[in-house]
Amino acid sequence: MMKVIVTGTYEEMSLTAAEAVRERVLSSPRCVLGLATGSTPLGMYAKLIEMYQRGEVSFKDIRSVNLDEYYPISPSARCSYRYYMDTNFFNHIDIDKANTHFPDAENEDSEKASTEYEKLISSLGKIELQILGIGRNGHIGFNEPGSFLYPLTHMARLSESTVRANSRFFSSPADVPRFSLTMGMKTILSASGIILLASGKEKREAVRRTLSSVIDTSCPSTLLCLHDDVTLIVTRDALE
Ligand code: PGA
Repeated sequence: MMKVIVTGTYEEMSLTAAEAVRERVLSSPRCVLGLATGSTPLGMYAKLIEMYQRGEVSFKDIRSVNLDEYYPISPSARCSYRYYMDTNFFNHIDIDKANTHFPDAENEDSEKASTEYEKLISSLGKIELQILGIGRNGHIGFNEPGSFLYPLTHMARLSESTVRANSRFFSSPADVPRFSLTMGMKTILSASGIILLASGKEKREAVRRTLSSVIDTSCPSTLLCLHDDVTLIVTRDALE
Protein backbone atom coordinates (compact mmCIF):
# COMPACT_ATOMS: atom_id res chain seq x y z
CA MET A 1 0.00 0.00 0.00
CA MET A 2 1.23 3.44 -0.81
CA LYS A 3 1.97 5.46 2.29
CA VAL A 4 0.10 8.77 2.21
CA ILE A 5 1.04 11.87 4.19
CA VAL A 6 -1.60 14.58 3.98
CA THR A 7 -0.41 18.11 4.64
CA GLY A 8 -2.41 21.29 5.06
CA THR A 9 -0.28 23.56 2.94
CA TYR A 10 2.28 23.57 0.15
CA GLU A 11 4.82 24.83 2.69
CA GLU A 12 4.18 21.85 4.95
CA MET A 13 4.36 19.41 2.02
CA SER A 14 7.69 20.91 0.99
CA LEU A 15 9.11 20.70 4.52
CA THR A 16 7.97 17.10 4.97
CA ALA A 17 9.62 16.12 1.67
CA ALA A 18 12.81 18.03 2.47
CA GLU A 19 13.03 16.31 5.86
CA ALA A 20 12.75 12.91 4.18
CA VAL A 21 15.54 13.81 1.74
CA ARG A 22 17.70 15.12 4.58
CA GLU A 23 17.21 11.89 6.55
CA ARG A 24 18.25 9.84 3.53
CA VAL A 25 21.32 11.98 2.86
CA LEU A 26 22.36 11.89 6.53
CA SER A 27 22.09 8.12 6.67
CA SER A 28 23.67 7.61 3.25
CA PRO A 29 25.95 10.58 2.40
CA ARG A 30 27.08 9.11 -0.95
CA CYS A 31 23.65 8.05 -2.12
CA VAL A 32 22.17 8.55 -5.56
CA LEU A 33 19.16 10.85 -5.54
CA GLY A 34 16.69 10.86 -8.40
CA LEU A 35 15.47 14.42 -8.85
CA ALA A 36 12.50 16.03 -10.55
CA THR A 37 11.67 19.46 -11.94
CA GLY A 38 8.37 21.33 -12.34
CA SER A 39 6.68 23.73 -9.94
CA THR A 40 5.86 21.18 -7.25
CA PRO A 41 9.36 20.39 -5.88
CA LEU A 42 10.49 24.04 -5.84
CA GLY A 43 9.48 24.47 -2.19
CA MET A 44 11.29 21.27 -1.23
CA TYR A 45 14.49 22.49 -2.90
CA ALA A 46 14.15 25.83 -1.08
CA LYS A 47 13.80 24.03 2.28
CA LEU A 48 16.83 21.84 1.53
CA ILE A 49 18.89 24.94 0.71
CA GLU A 50 17.86 26.44 4.08
CA MET A 51 18.84 23.20 5.85
CA TYR A 52 22.21 23.25 4.07
CA GLN A 53 22.74 26.90 5.06
CA ARG A 54 22.00 26.05 8.69
CA GLY A 55 24.63 23.29 8.52
CA GLU A 56 22.06 20.52 8.98
CA VAL A 57 22.96 18.62 5.81
CA SER A 58 25.71 18.40 3.21
CA PHE A 59 25.43 17.16 -0.37
CA LYS A 60 29.20 17.03 -0.88
CA ASP A 61 29.32 13.37 -1.89
CA ILE A 62 25.79 12.99 -3.24
CA ARG A 63 25.25 11.87 -6.81
CA SER A 64 22.08 12.83 -8.65
CA VAL A 65 20.23 11.75 -11.75
CA ASN A 66 17.38 13.80 -13.11
CA LEU A 67 14.24 12.16 -14.37
CA ASP A 68 14.11 13.85 -17.71
CA GLU A 69 15.17 16.69 -19.99
CA TYR A 70 13.61 18.38 -22.98
CA TYR A 71 14.98 17.17 -26.32
CA PRO A 72 16.85 18.50 -28.08
CA ILE A 73 18.01 21.37 -25.91
CA SER A 74 21.25 22.97 -24.82
CA PRO A 75 21.94 22.61 -21.09
CA SER A 76 22.57 26.36 -20.94
CA ALA A 77 19.10 27.21 -22.33
CA ARG A 78 17.06 28.95 -19.66
CA CYS A 79 14.18 26.49 -20.03
CA SER A 80 16.36 23.37 -19.81
CA TYR A 81 15.98 21.22 -16.75
CA ARG A 82 19.73 21.46 -16.19
CA TYR A 83 19.29 25.23 -15.89
CA TYR A 84 16.31 24.75 -13.56
CA MET A 85 18.28 22.42 -11.26
CA ASP A 86 21.35 24.67 -11.23
CA THR A 87 19.43 27.84 -10.44
CA ASN A 88 16.89 26.35 -8.03
CA PHE A 89 19.11 23.93 -6.15
CA PHE A 90 22.65 22.97 -7.17
CA ASN A 91 24.12 26.52 -7.23
CA HIS A 92 23.07 27.00 -3.60
CA ILE A 93 24.42 23.80 -2.03
CA ASP A 94 27.78 22.02 -1.87
CA ILE A 95 27.02 19.28 -4.40
CA ASP A 96 29.78 18.63 -6.95
CA LYS A 97 28.13 19.43 -10.30
CA ALA A 98 30.25 16.74 -11.94
CA ASN A 99 28.13 14.30 -9.92
CA THR A 100 24.82 15.67 -11.23
CA HIS A 101 23.46 13.97 -14.32
CA PHE A 102 20.83 14.48 -17.01
CA PRO A 103 20.05 12.67 -20.23
CA ASP A 104 22.28 14.09 -22.98
CA ALA A 105 19.79 16.29 -24.81
CA GLU A 106 22.42 17.48 -27.29
CA ASN A 107 23.17 14.02 -28.63
CA GLU A 108 21.64 13.82 -32.14
CA ASP A 109 21.12 10.11 -31.64
CA SER A 110 18.31 9.92 -29.10
CA GLU A 111 18.53 6.12 -28.83
CA LYS A 112 22.22 6.30 -28.01
CA ALA A 113 21.59 9.09 -25.49
CA SER A 114 18.90 6.93 -23.86
CA THR A 115 21.05 3.80 -23.68
CA GLU A 116 23.93 5.81 -22.29
CA TYR A 117 21.74 7.29 -19.58
CA GLU A 118 20.60 3.84 -18.50
CA LYS A 119 24.24 2.70 -18.39
CA LEU A 120 25.20 5.73 -16.39
CA ILE A 121 22.43 5.13 -13.84
CA SER A 122 23.48 1.48 -13.47
CA SER A 123 27.12 2.47 -13.06
CA LEU A 124 26.20 4.77 -10.17
CA GLY A 125 24.40 1.96 -8.37
CA LYS A 126 20.82 2.07 -7.18
CA ILE A 127 18.82 5.28 -7.04
CA GLU A 128 18.14 5.32 -3.31
CA LEU A 129 15.44 7.94 -3.32
CA GLN A 130 13.52 9.15 -6.35
CA ILE A 131 11.51 12.36 -6.10
CA LEU A 132 8.54 12.60 -8.43
CA GLY A 133 5.90 15.14 -9.34
CA ILE A 134 2.76 14.10 -11.14
CA GLY A 135 1.19 15.58 -14.26
CA ARG A 136 -2.45 16.60 -14.33
CA ASN A 137 -2.87 13.69 -16.74
CA GLY A 138 -1.01 11.29 -14.43
CA HIS A 139 2.27 11.43 -16.29
CA ILE A 140 5.46 10.59 -14.42
CA GLY A 141 8.58 12.16 -15.87
CA PHE A 142 7.54 12.41 -19.51
CA ASN A 143 5.89 8.99 -19.51
CA GLU A 144 2.64 10.23 -20.96
CA PRO A 145 -0.73 8.41 -20.95
CA GLY A 146 -1.17 5.99 -23.83
CA SER A 147 -1.91 2.41 -24.77
CA PHE A 148 1.62 1.38 -23.86
CA LEU A 149 4.59 2.65 -21.84
CA TYR A 150 8.32 2.17 -22.18
CA PRO A 151 10.33 0.56 -19.40
CA LEU A 152 13.65 2.32 -19.99
CA THR A 153 14.96 5.79 -20.84
CA HIS A 154 13.65 6.87 -24.24
CA MET A 155 12.66 9.84 -26.36
CA ALA A 156 9.05 10.78 -25.70
CA ARG A 157 6.61 13.13 -27.38
CA LEU A 158 4.93 15.53 -24.96
CA SER A 159 1.15 15.26 -24.89
CA GLU A 160 -0.80 18.38 -25.87
CA SER A 161 -1.99 18.78 -22.26
CA THR A 162 1.63 18.74 -21.03
CA VAL A 163 2.64 21.28 -23.68
CA ARG A 164 -0.20 23.50 -22.46
CA ALA A 165 0.68 22.98 -18.77
CA ASN A 166 4.41 23.67 -19.37
CA SER A 167 3.80 26.68 -21.61
CA ARG A 168 3.74 28.84 -18.48
CA PHE A 169 7.54 28.52 -18.42
CA PHE A 170 7.86 29.74 -22.04
CA SER A 171 6.80 32.86 -23.92
CA SER A 172 4.20 30.87 -25.87
CA PRO A 173 2.99 27.26 -26.26
CA ALA A 174 4.74 27.21 -29.68
CA ASP A 175 8.09 27.54 -27.88
CA VAL A 176 7.61 24.45 -25.71
CA PRO A 177 9.82 21.62 -26.97
CA ARG A 178 7.69 18.74 -28.29
CA PHE A 179 10.08 15.98 -27.20
CA SER A 180 12.03 14.90 -24.19
CA LEU A 181 14.37 12.19 -23.01
CA THR A 182 12.84 10.57 -19.97
CA MET A 183 13.55 7.68 -17.64
CA GLY A 184 11.08 4.88 -18.31
CA MET A 185 8.76 3.33 -15.75
CA LYS A 186 11.15 0.48 -14.96
CA THR A 187 14.02 2.93 -14.40
CA ILE A 188 11.81 4.83 -11.97
CA LEU A 189 10.43 1.74 -10.25
CA SER A 190 14.00 0.44 -9.75
CA ALA A 191 14.64 3.15 -7.15
CA SER A 192 14.78 1.84 -3.57
CA GLY A 193 12.35 4.47 -2.32
CA ILE A 194 10.05 6.93 -4.07
CA ILE A 195 8.50 10.18 -2.86
CA LEU A 196 5.61 11.42 -4.95
CA LEU A 197 4.58 15.04 -4.43
CA ALA A 198 1.21 16.47 -5.38
CA SER A 199 -0.31 19.83 -4.63
CA GLY A 200 -3.30 21.76 -5.94
CA LYS A 201 -6.77 20.77 -7.00
CA GLU A 202 -5.77 20.38 -10.65
CA LYS A 203 -3.92 17.23 -9.52
CA ARG A 204 -7.00 15.70 -7.85
CA GLU A 205 -7.98 13.30 -10.61
CA ALA A 206 -4.40 12.08 -11.10
CA VAL A 207 -4.02 11.53 -7.33
CA ARG A 208 -7.35 9.72 -7.12
CA ARG A 209 -6.34 7.32 -9.89
CA THR A 210 -2.87 6.82 -8.40
CA LEU A 211 -4.46 5.67 -5.16
CA SER A 212 -7.07 3.48 -6.85
CA SER A 213 -4.79 0.38 -7.04
CA VAL A 214 -5.80 -0.16 -10.67
CA ILE A 215 -2.88 -0.24 -13.08
CA ASP A 216 -3.70 1.62 -16.26
CA THR A 217 -1.25 2.98 -18.83
CA SER A 218 -3.71 5.81 -19.50
CA CYS A 219 -2.52 7.11 -16.10
CA PRO A 220 1.18 6.21 -15.79
CA SER A 221 1.33 7.09 -12.08
CA THR A 222 -0.90 4.06 -11.38
CA LEU A 223 2.16 1.86 -12.02
CA LEU A 224 3.62 3.17 -8.78
CA CYS A 225 1.40 0.74 -6.88
CA LEU A 226 3.81 -1.99 -8.08
CA HIS A 227 6.50 -0.54 -5.81
CA ASP A 228 6.79 -1.38 -2.10
CA ASP A 229 8.16 1.91 -0.84
CA VAL A 230 6.28 4.88 -2.27
CA THR A 231 5.26 7.78 -0.07
CA LEU A 232 2.76 10.24 -1.46
CA ILE A 233 3.10 13.62 0.23
CA VAL A 234 0.02 15.52 -0.78
CA THR A 235 -1.72 18.74 0.15
CA ARG A 236 -5.32 18.36 1.23
CA ASP A 237 -6.62 20.26 -1.79
CA ALA A 238 -5.17 17.60 -4.12
CA LEU A 239 -7.31 14.95 -2.45
CA GLU A 240 -11.02 14.68 -3.06
P1 PGA B 1 4.30 20.53 -11.91
O1 PGA B 1 4.60 19.35 -12.92
O2 PGA B 1 5.04 20.20 -10.66
O3 PGA B 1 4.86 21.75 -12.60
O4 PGA B 1 2.83 20.57 -11.73
C1 PGA B 1 4.56 18.05 -12.46
C2 PGA B 1 4.83 17.13 -13.61
O5 PGA B 1 4.49 17.49 -14.75
O6 PGA B 1 5.38 16.05 -13.37
